[in-house]
Amino acid sequence: MYYPFVRKALFQLDAERAHELTLQQLRRITGTPLEALIRQRLPSRPVKCMGLTFKNGLGLAAGLDKNGECINAFGAMGFGSIEVGTVTPRPQPGNDKPRMFRLVEAEGVINRMGFNNLGVDHLVENIKKARYDGILGVNIGKNKDTPVENGKDDYLICMEKVYAHAGYIAINISSPNTPGLRTLQYGEALDDLLSAIKLKQKDLEKSQMKYVPVAVKIAPDLSEEELIQIADSLVRHNIDGVIATNTTLDRSLVAGLKYCDETGGLSGRPVQSRSTEVIRRLAQELQGRMPIIGVGGIDSLVSAREKIAAGASLVQIYSGFIYKGPPLIKEIVTHL
Ligand SMILES: Cc1cc2nc3c(=O)[nH]c(=O)nc-3n(C[C@H](O)[C@H](O)[C@H](O)COP(=O)(O)O)c2cc1C
Repeated sequence: MYYPFVRKALFQLDAERAHELTLQQLRRITGTPLEALIRQRLPSRPVKCMGLTFKNGLGLAAGLDKNGECINAFGAMGFGSIEVGTVTPRPQPGNDKPRMFRLVEAEGVINRMGFNNLGVDHLVENIKKARYDGILGVNIGKNKDTPVENGKDDYLICMEKVYAHAGYIAINISSPNTPGLRTLQYGEALDDLLSAIKLKQKDLEKSQMKYVPVAVKIAPDLSEEELIQIADSLVRHNIDGVIATNTTLDRSLVAGLKYCDETGGLSGRPVQSRSTEVIRRLAQELQGRMPIIGVGGIDSLVSAREKIAAGASLVQIYSGFIYKGPPLIKEIVTHL
């Protein structure tokens, strides 16, 4: 396969530059004969989840295509779902660069992007132009300069704007790179947010005559007690799914490696086992009342199967895709 060569070239560049260049090239080749370079014919492996039928159980995790610029390209590679975003109501630049680092020896990534995105209106325009026959998830968040007490308003604004165009909506309350965001995972703040989201979903269902499931994305850095409380709250509010997990603040598995002390969320192989543990504990707690979408360090068929065995109905990849490229999609989709 050609990916090892592509990766070698990309890994000569700064991580974010490589990311931008890749998206740019994907946009260029989509719809041209060169699209054959990335297109993969994969067997159909339908999975039902949250009332939707996914053509296979593998999705692209949020954050790689924040603005929905390459939906067709990732579709051509064979993903059964693509989660675009995180998007915020207003465009924002994110944190200062550099803000993305590869921990190559550990096959990990640290990022502190800070929801750099072109805003929800821009994303919606891109979704409208896309031609993708899989399930499109839209991951939404709050602007950095919206006080966390008003964070709820940002989620509601985004919900309203993306509802008509989304297969499901993911509520991101677990990014470590927006100050205060993770506090929305706890207690009254969580209950308050989920009530408002459910109410909004009900209104939109009525006015648009279409039910769009809502999933909540959680962090791996939760104590057992916190995890139990979150699961209880998600069930009480009839949330449709939970995405576990986002990146971790824990650095114990990468101590001593280059970039290990960079601020941000760590993903890839170093978060694999923690994320699987969270899924396992969640599954015990949820007892099948809500599906789990498993994400965190999946880099092979084996690690994808571990997530399913722990209780996930679907899986997603991000960092593993950076390291392994499109062949990883083929490996997982074909044999999962
Ligand atoms: C550079 C980068 C940016 C990310 N941005 C987002 C984001 O905007 N929203 C989100 O919910 N998750 C984001 N994530 C987290 C991933 O979606 C995923 O939950 C996490 O990386 C664990 O999966 P992985 O080990 O396969 O990468 C980001 C991850 C990376 C590496």
